[in-house]
Amino acid sequence: MSSFKALRVHQADKGVEARIEDMRVEDLSEGSVVIRAAWSGINYKDALAVTGKGKIMRTLPLNAGIDVSGTVETSEDPRFLPGHEVLVTGCGLGEVHDGGFAGMVRVPGDWVVPMPDGLDLRRAMAVGTAGFTAGMALVRMEQNGQEPGHGPILITGASGGVGSFATRLFSRAGYSVTAFTGKTDAADYLQSLGAADILDASQVDYGKRPLEKAIWGGAVDSLGGDALTWLTRTVKPWGNIGAIGLAAGIELNTTVMPFILRGVSLLGINSVECSRDLRLAVWQRISELLQPDDCDAIISGEVGLDDVLESAESLLARKARGRTLVRLA
Ligand SMILES: NC(=O)c1ccc[n+]([C@@H]2O[C@H](COP(=O)([O-])OP(=O)(O)OC[C@H]3O[C@@H](n4cnc5c(N)ncnc54)[C@H](OP(=O)(O)O)[C@@H]3O)[C@@H](O)[C@H]2O)c1
Repeated sequence: MSSFKALRVHQADKGVEARIEDMRVEDLSEGSVVIRAAWSGINYKDALAVTGKGKIMRTLPLNAGIDVSGTVETSEDPRFLPGHEVLVTGCGLGEVHDGGFAGMVRVPGDWVVPMPDGLDLRRAMAVGTAGFTAGMALVRMEQNGQEPGHGPILITGASGGVGSFATRLFSRAGYSVTAFTGKTDAADYLQSLGAADILDASQVDYGKRPLEKAIWGGAVDSLGGDALTWLTRTVKPWGNIGAIGLAAGIELNTTVMPFILRGVSLLGINSVECSRDLRLAVWQRISELLQPDDCDAIISGEVGLDDVLESAESLLARKARGRTLVRLA
């Protein structure tokens, strides 16, 4: 098989160095399915990995990219035939296994998801791990009793990849969404995704009491730290909080009061390691809810492998909005 380009991260004297290299399939991490990659997308984790600003990769050198969509090239797994359109998100891709910022990817068959109805190679990567994780929050919260009549859903980091898809998916599922954002110019964008209200993060008084006035029916949090602490104290009785991210911090300084006096549930969302049944159920729910134009509205741009580093810096500097796709074909 001919060679292809990959964005490969190496150990350097200080931190890491990401560079584009020629590789062959036999150089890749092992697996039963070889995928000719078409698209990937830049997630927060990818930005940390390629810049070295976070320790995401647990072995080096490694191809970056936690997501990929493409066409099966060869397969030893009877569930997948050459030509099938598929996607992979998480599962260790780009963390312990050569990832999606490459012309070819080789993975175990259990990681491979057949292209869900209504999505295509490009739209699937607009969703990517970010949208999948937002979808998992919706599924888990509803499994735990969340329903639109319970009250508005507060979504933090709303203009980011996870936040944009959470805004779109929850509003499509019939919830009233309040988008919490630090970007003063994001209101029109977030309203176009279905947000009923916008909350300017700089204007929010987090308060100090173990229980503040209960406002939110539930919440989806990409930030951690003070924002998540505040959410535990302001979600209504029996509401759910999907704890997804740590963009603002890893601390959580709350008390047991919201849990024992209001029955609030803090649900952990792990998009990397989950059962295959849950993975397929989340993709099914996403594909049922999304309308054809929804993904296009969240795509903020497309880059080639050459420009991934610059886009990653921009994402970490909080300048990015929605999802940036990586063109691989
Ligand atoms: N649990 C999982 O399986 C899983 C999966 C995917 C992602 N994540 C995590 O979820 C988070 C979001 O990921 P993403 O891909 O959506 O990233 P992203 O596109 O960079 O979005 C994060 C958003 O959070 C806000 N933000 C960023 N830094 C902040 C800070 N220091 N203080 C306050 N707000 C900040 C910004 O939104 P505004 O400007 O609108 O406020 C930003 O757009 C990350 O922590 C990521 O690691 C977890």
